[in-house]
Amino acid sequence: MSLKKQLINEQGIRTDGRGIDDLRPIKITLGYLAHANGSVLYEQGKNKILAAVFGPSEVHPKHAELPDRAILRVRYRMAPFSTEERKSPAPTRREIELSMVIRNALESVVLTELFPRTAIDIFIEVLQADAGTRVAGVTAAALALADAGIPMKGITAGCAVGKVDGKIVCDLNDIEDKEGEADMPIVYIPTLGKISLLQMDGLMTQEEFKQALSKAINSAMKVYQLQVNALKTKYIKVER
Ligand code: CDP
Repeated sequence: MSLKKQLINEQGIRTDGRGIDDLRPIKITLGYLAHANGSVLYEQGKNKILAAVFGPSEVHPKHAELPDRAILRVRYRMAPFSTEERKSPAPTRREIELSMVIRNALESVVLTELFPRTAIDIFIEVLQADAGTRVAGVTAAALALADAGIPMKGITAGCAVGKVDGKIVCDLNDIEDKEGEADMPIVYIPTLGKISLLQMDGLMTQEEFKQALSKAINSAMKVYQLQVNALKTKYIKVER
């Protein structure tokens, strides 16, 4: 019989030293790449995610273009060296599905109708993964889109919450994601007060779910504040 590993100690401290509501440290480096229209290196704890935006540009193949709006193309990939066990470089079903999930989360904010017959390409490259990469990917993509000057109704801010050792905790790391009882990634759009991605693995009661949702929105608001600060620092120059 294997004993379940304790992930939160009696003092309420998690394996990486955080309290149950604490997020991992976040670092945002805008304009990280020279050849993209917009880019960011987004670090959240051990997660290191590069997002690059190209466009709006002509659509190839031509028949894929839409007469009334731009198409968003999202490619989420994990580098072979991003996980503890080397991952195959071939795209997995998970990566293809997450590319679609992320595109859906972004489609509700990008003003695609301003750029008919064009494509906006968003690349999300996970260089190092430590759980929550889909929501960190959406967070990073919004920053890269803003960096590219693409108009949006709001900025998507993501964070996962979950149930670990019977408690609802914010921003799960890899071991909490794998060994915890539930994992719930969400993406929130503060300017619209709307959620554009919500998934859940595992089991929670209705009460726990309500608590998780409220903690997820609070966490996303903290992420949003950091996104806004990073964009203001780069783009709002104080006149002297
Ligand atoms: O990353 P996210 O939580 O959005 O997606 P997941 O499918 O729930 O994966 C959770 C974590 O498992 C990832 O962030 C990686 O740390 C890890 N993982 C892995 O080690 N190898 C894979 N092929 C896929 C995920």
